[in-house]
Amino acid sequence: MVITVTGGAGFIGSNFIFHMMKKYPDYRIICLDKLTYAGNLSTLDAVKDNKNFRFVKADICDREAVYKLFEEEKPDILVNFAAESHVDRSIENPDVFLQTNIMGTAVLADACRKYGIKRYHQVSTDEVYGDLPLDRPDLLFTEKTPIHASSPYSSSKAAADLLVLAYNRTYQLPVTVSRCSNNYGPYQFPEKLIPLMIANALNDKPLPVYGEGINVRDWLYVEDHCTAVDLVIHKGRVGEVYNIGGHNEMRNIDIVKLICKELGKSESLIKYVEDRKGHDMRYAIDPTKIHDELGWLPETKFEDGIKKTIGWYLENKTWWETIISGEYRSYYNKMYGSKC
Ligand code: NAD
Ligand code: TYD
Repeated sequence: MVITVTGGAGFIGSNFIFHMMKKYPDYRIICLDKLTYAGNLSTLDAVKDNKNFRFVKADICDREAVYKLFEEEKPDILVNFAAESHVDRSIENPDVFLQTNIMGTAVLADACRKYGIKRYHQVSTDEVYGDLPLDRPDLLFTEKTPIHASSPYSSSKAAADLLVLAYNRTYQLPVTVSRCSNNYGPYQFPEKLIPLMIANALNDKPLPVYGEGINVRDWLYVEDHCTAVDLVIHKGRVGEVYNIGGHNEMRNIDIVKLICKELGKSESLIKYVEDRKGHDMRYAIDPTKIHDELGWLPETKFEDGIKKTIGWYLENKTWWETIISGEYRSYYNKMYGSKC
């Protein structure tokens, strides 16, 4: 089996490569990644010398490079993690989100049509459903919830979902889509809530909480997401969408306070700052379909997952310190400089 993993030098893609190479040592895994600010080749150090692994630096929008890879490797499965993934950046500059998330997906789907594929899997997000009200805890996103995206990021992901599902109907491309809730765990870029708060707390810097901190996200440990995608690509039904989430809704402020407690830092570091534009209030996934059809259940409880994650950031300071001392510093100053 040959699997191409796009975006494999990023957070979830790299964890997925580790998961797959451990579980299926005979599979050949090709990672195609542009190495944007969010991609980090050093993340893949542990697998780079494995004879069944190949890294290709390329942009998913580069049709020639993608077709060349298909001619060389003839993948059986393609799992598309490659994306611009940060909502705040999409509010600042939507253009690159439309390019990568929509046009890049089109190039990958075209390559699969041209050269053939057993499965094209699109890694998507619960954010395509928009948000839920805080005062209706009974409401959850199911696969039948209408698409109602709020940000340039989520609307670009929604467009990509619609496109690949249209390729299934029109060209019978064997497509699956998974829509996951917020992930956390090792190798997450420190611009996202959990690693940003861990890094700032460790450096005794202000912890910038947007608005009142009452927005709710449904957190899933990254390894559980990888297990779900593994199941969907092997056993999921073609043309179907699968929601992935762990019934673990938490308010941002409670997560930040928990990180302070775990690290022995004072909550006085918390600084309430201007809210995100169009900030989604609540995400919550109903994972009944993937549970009933594929037997998937999350294994990591949040209280264990957050300890493991904090432990990882403590043990791997060089990984994230290199990031926050580089080009990321100007992003941070631009986004938070006047706020904190
Ligand atoms: P990430 O930003 O950490 O990594 C993205 C990776 O894609 C990076 O390695 C980057 O270099 C690569 N990339 C970006 N543009 C590219 C291009 N044009 N060509 C090739 N490679 C390119 O993202 P992540 O958090 O690992 O998310 C992975 C996927 O999962 C995304 O599609 C995202 O929408 C989805 N998702 C993420 C979450 C989450 O909580 N992080 C939740 C649900 C879904
Ligand atoms: P984020 O990790 O960016 O994921 P997403 O926006 O895709 O859910 O943000 C998670 C939540 O944390 C979101 O409600 C915004 C909030 N947040 C802050 O309060 N402060 C921050 O510095 C960041 C990055 C996020």
